[in-house]
Amino acid sequence: MQVLHSVNELRAAVARLPRPLGLVPTMGALHAGHMALMTASTADNRSTVASIYVNPSQFGPREDLSRYPRTLEADLAKLEAAAADLVFAPETPEMYPPGFVSWVSVEGPPAERLEAERRPGHFRGVATIVAKLLLQVGPDVAYFGQKDAQQLAVVRRVVTDLNIPVRIVGVPTVREPDGLALSSRNVYLSPAERRAATVLSRALRTAQARYAAGERDPEAILQSMAAEFRAEPLADLDYADLADPDTFQPAVQLDDRTLALVACRIGATRLIDNTALGGTHS
Ligand code: PAJ
Repeated sequence: MQVLHSVNELRAAVARLPRPLGLVPTMGALHAGHMALMTASTADNRSTVASIYVNPSQFGPREDLSRYPRTLEADLAKLEAAAADLVFAPETPEMYPPGFVSWVSVEGPPAERLEAERRPGHFRGVATIVAKLLLQVGPDVAYFGQKDAQQLAVVRRVVTDLNIPVRIVGVPTVREPDGLALSSRNVYLSPAERRAATVLSRALRTAQARYAAGERDPEAILQSMAAEFRAEPLADLDYADLADPDTFQPAVQLDDRTLALVACRIGATRLIDNTALGGTHS
């Protein structure tokens, strides 16, 4: 497994890799959720490139950029074990050289509401770095987690709008046995907070259960989700929402693909989660 830091080295090495080629973009601090993307890529492709880059432009001024977990050595061992052919781990001057002023800004749905509203500039940072990685690596397929459903929708929108020749695959969310979605930010939780954090997946299961029982009134399902949060004193609900999985506009007619989405703060940590009402993401 090669570990490369510059775009020039990357391009030369990628040119020698057998096709089809999969790309798994990450910010490191790898856990089993990231590894599910690797498993999907190595199953579908003859070669897999993983990237590790904590992209400053997608963090807001009050967000956790400086304390974001950085575990490069352990990450490389995991990627080696997962049969990555190449790891691209650039430093910031390589990705944002002096004079950098060109951004990919997604100026409408799905980059409105929810995360777009709470994290101004976040999706501009994500769209820009993902477009750069796709252009630098030139993969046939790129893998993203359904855990970050709005990010996945934004990436699909960018790839369509900019005619980037790549197939985007969404990989189901990997969870702890008690339902908590794996996230690099879970390490910030104290033991009590970690127990409280199951409220996100509980609220999503409640939404699914009400839908399965025939409830089709969005307001009724949103109320049930909010009630789960009211019962958890350590969790401070940011939003509970029902949205179209492609546009992230509020769902009016619920169907199996409609996403139930939640975001909350537990202590200083902000967590998000989502599920399709019908159980599996499209
Ligand atoms: P990061 O948070 O490191 O996540 C990398 C990829 O892993 C994303 O596609 C994310 O959705 C996926 N992922 C995270 N937790 C998961 C889980 N529990 N189950 C399945 N997949 C999971 O998302 C980013 O980095 C960045 O925004 C990035 C796309 C790399 C651009 O900088």
